[in-house]
Parts: sequence; structure tokens; C-alpha cells
Amino acid sequence: MSEKTCVVRFPGTDYPPLELKAGDKLSEHLTAQNSPVLFGCRTGICGTCLVLVEGDIPPPGEDEREILYVMEMENTPARLACMVELTGDINLVFVEEQM
Ligand code: FES
Repeated sequence: MSEKTCVVRFPGTDYPPLELKAGDKLSEHLTAQNSPVLFGCRTGICGTCLVLVEGDIPPPGEDEREILYVMEMENTPARLACMVELTGDINLVFVEEQM
């Protein structure tokens, strides 16, 4: 049985796409060398990894929604990259570039 591959792209940057497996945690596979996404706590608390996610991924859980609310991002498509559950191909776009 083969595992599903998910492609993570970073539009607007020079970083090449990454191929990860479905269920992989972005915070464990994205580094300063292979992506423009910065992580702090990696546990959904600090908000450093705020990005816009284009693609079909599950909605944020209660803990992530709470942090997005505190950051006044609850009504935007912004997500915490460290909390995203990878289920398909996604584009990660920085919030500052969109707002
Ligand atoms: S790295 Fe802290 S919220 Fe994602």
C-alpha cells in the first residue's frame, strides 16, 4: 500500500515545492533551509507560523481557533502552519503578502 504524497508549494518565493506524506506535520519537515515558513513554539501557541493555506485541509481545531481568535484572524483563511493536518496538495502564502 503506497502512502499518499502531498505537494507543499510556496508561491511568490524561490523555494521549490516539497513532497511530504499525508499526515506529516509541517513543523517537523519545514526548515529554514527548505521553506520560508518560520516556526517558534511548534505547538500552536506563539502565532509565529501564521500563513494562508490554499488547498483542501481539515478546518482548525478548537485550540487553533482560539489562537486565531486572539490574533484577530478568526474570520480569515489564515492558519497556524504547525497545526495544519496535511491531507492534500497545499500552497502556503504569507499573511503579510495578502493583507
Ligand atoms: S510555531 Fe508557534 S503557533 Fe506555530
